[in-house]
Amino acid sequence: MKNLPKLKNTIRLLLLIFLTLSFGNSCKGSKEKKNTLPEQAGIILGFSQIGEESAWRKCNTRSVKEAALESGVQLVFANAEQKQENQIKAIRSFIAYLVDVIAFVPIVADGWDNVLREAKDAGIPVLITDRKINTADNSLYAGFIGTDSLEEGRNAALFLIKKFGIKPGESGKEFKPINIVELSGTEGSSVATGRAAGFREVLDEYPQFNIIHSESGDFLRSKGYELMHSILGKYKNIDVVFSHNDGMTLGIIDAMTEKGIKPGKDIVIVTIDAEQAAIDALRLGKVNFVIECNPKMGPEIMDLVQRLVAGERIPRLQHVDEQVFYETDDLSILEPRGY
Ligand code: AHR
Repeated sequence: MKNLPKLKNTIRLLLLIFLTLSFGNSCKGSKEKKNTLPEQAGIILGFSQIGEESAWRKCNTRSVKEAALESGVQLVFANAEQKQENQIKAIRSFIAYLVDVIAFVPIVADGWDNVLREAKDAGIPVLITDRKINTADNSLYAGFIGTDSLEEGRNAALFLIKKFGIKPGESGKEFKPINIVELSGTEGSSVATGRAAGFREVLDEYPQFNIIHSESGDFLRSKGYELMHSILGKYKNIDVVFSHNDGMTLGIIDAMTEKGIKPGKDIVIVTIDAEQAAIDALRLGKVNFVIECNPKMGPEIMDLVQRLVAGERIPRLQHVDEQVFYETDDLSILEPRGY
């Protein structure tokens, strides 16, 4: 396999030649190219996905791939294997390939300005999906479509207020503190930051709630399990676990069960994503509240991509539809989740 890098370069070169020939001289990444693209060339979308850390993520990838196929968008897909540097490399190669639109899921919120400026200079519009970025220059991307993580965090807190029967304005002094452990998602990701912020925004008004421990489990089931194991060894008075995703929640349930703790009964569990496994756990009473994070945004992404290629303006911010599932809901009528 000594010649692998050479082979890769050849493939890359062939792809570049193919794209250049397909688009003729008009394909220079300038605004005019949109008017001169041969119709049969179709739209080329470069998409950088962060990896395969959860069933949610795999469904998100499936949704993008299926929607691309259905809408006739040619997808150049890159899996970054959880590394921002791989995403930056992928975006640079999309720019070199002169794709029509670049879409990506930013693994973390910071550090995108340079590469996005390169895309802007090449005249390639960028669509941010699922997670948000931090930038002082909003002209670096056309729009965002994805989850409302702040609202998800708020919903988690509002459920706890109901669950523990707390009325607004009641003084915290009359209550024994309700101790919360939070397992958050990937550090520096907009979803982890948003979920934590929305949760605190609501609970800050209720002194009864006490976040005794907060740690990142990186959205991984294995880390959810490991962390919960050690947290249970440290604290004997946990009332609630707020987990930023279902993958970690499944690990948390395993750790509790191993220690003889009944998840959902001895400790209230709130989780985000609404994977089938979490809904099953809700049915079994092992989880108390599930907040949907909707991964099926492929069709909306393709619609936005087509509008960008047509030179239309797209919304700066588009949140996907999401719902919540209570332990008291009739879950027998729920369609299979598909992830
Ligand atoms: O960005 C969305 C989050 O990323 C999902 O909640 C989580 O499961 C995923 O890995």
